Amino acid sequence: MKVLVVGSGGREHALCWKIAQSPELTELLCAPGNGGTSAVARNVDVATTNISGLVRLAVEEKVDLVVVGPEDPLVAGLGDLLRAEGIAVFGPGARGAELEGSKAAAKDLLERHRIPTAGSRRFDRSGPAKAYLEGCTVWPQVIKADGLAAGKGVVICEDVQAACRAVDSLMEEKTLGGAGDRILVEEFLEGEEASVLAVTDGEAILILEPIVDHKQVGEGDTGPNTGGMGVYSPAPSMSKRLLRQIEQRIVIPSIHGLRREGLDFRGVLFIGLMITDQGPRVLEYNVRFGDPETQAIVRRLKGDLLPILVATARGELSSISPPEWDPRFCVGVVGASEGYPKSYRKGDRIRGVEEAEACGDVTVFQAGTASSGQGLVSSGGRVLCVTGMGETIEDARKCAYEAYDKIEWAGKFCRRDIGTRVEGRKERIRKMMSGVATWTRDGRL
Ligand code: AMP
Ligand code: GLY
Repeated sequence: MKVLVVGSGGREHALCWKIAQSPELTELLCAPGNGGTSAVARNVDVATTNISGLVRLAVEEKVDLVVVGPEDPLVAGLGDLLRAEGIAVFGPGARGAELEGSKAAAKDLLERHRIPTAGSRRFDRSGPAKAYLEGCTVWPQVIKADGLAAGKGVVICEDVQAACRAVDSLMEEKTLGGAGDRILVEEFLEGEEASVLAVTDGEAILILEPIVDHKQVGEGDTGPNTGGMGVYSPAPSMSKRLLRQIEQRIVIPSIHGLRREGLDFRGVLFIGLMITDQGPRVLEYNVRFGDPETQAIVRRLKGDLLPILVATARGELSSISPPEWDPRFCVGVVGASEGYPKSYRKGDRIRGVEEAEACGDVTVFQAGTASSGQGLVSSGGRVLCVTGMGETIEDARKCAYEAYDKIEWAGKFCRRDIGTRVEGRKERIRKMMSGVATWTRDGRL
């Protein structure tokens, strides 16, 4: 079987690494790929924004399956165009991808199918939004850009002044372009966050092992949001009972809701949750694998990933028996470049990846890397993710950080608290409000 993976991050390196181990694979392509994928796949220089180029590539190369990593090409309709050419795709079409592409569309689905989520109001103009906020008596309130914003579209606002500044920043100054033409003002939820990923062909559902990522750039969950600074799996705080509740109240109603609305969703529905005192509530839907969640998934998934992806794409997921998981813990530490998540340095020579992988049960997934004449160099904000395994979460942490410390490039940094139990949400919010993360206080993005 010939497979094309679309994307260039750590997630795509992880997918390629796992798919490359499949006995069913004949050839693996990655577009455009990175320094890591080039070791396990043939990188083809077609950007993820070049939708017609990707379709042409898949047709010319006669690939049997396309696995789409990032959300943008899915929102742009890559899945539909490939299916029209008769190519199996892991990833939804544009209508399904709207769940991630528009927070208002996601809310519509949640509300229509009575799936627990935060209450919200939506606005197309800044005047009525600010008038509504002036009347709010409960604070904080959450301001969200409707469109795709690479993790930068959510601002938690402490008071009406901060909220109005956030509205102006999105709707008047257009700091996120068209993504902020419409906004949601959402009820602030308190609790612990968790993610659940459900692979589905629209009918059968395969819920993957629970994973927790660390979204904020600073230790103790402070500072601006990033794509994710690290992960751990399994999540000790997710009891079997809670997982069952999430499955019954959220995962199944979401996927049945999609089907009842005539959507043929084939891929992975990644559900961001807040576990509140009143039970789990949906914060957001994503329509693709998480990054760096995928890095932990592929380390813990035993057996072959490729048949699961193929069966999903073909609508035959019910024929697959559930996979086995390595019961050990996986901790993934993201190494980023100075400046990230704002503008960051790049072009720095990276050394020590092989030494890191020789450290124990370690795999390094590359993200913002490129091969140059002088060797491997940094080329993105999140540069790589070092995954370590262990019988306990402490062992896995030790393994990952020991390996991480063997890798060097100028300007590298990471969070040192990945996989530790972070303090309660209330305390974190208090810190955010007291100026540790001034971006929320200012309501600036
Ligand atoms: P999202 O892009 O919707 O996942 O939001 C990014 C982050 O903002 C989440 O991971 C949460 O930490 C936070 N967040 C989003 N919505 C809410 C909410 N209604 N209440 C509290 N925090 C939220
Ligand atoms: N790690 C969060 C995401 O992939 O959206």
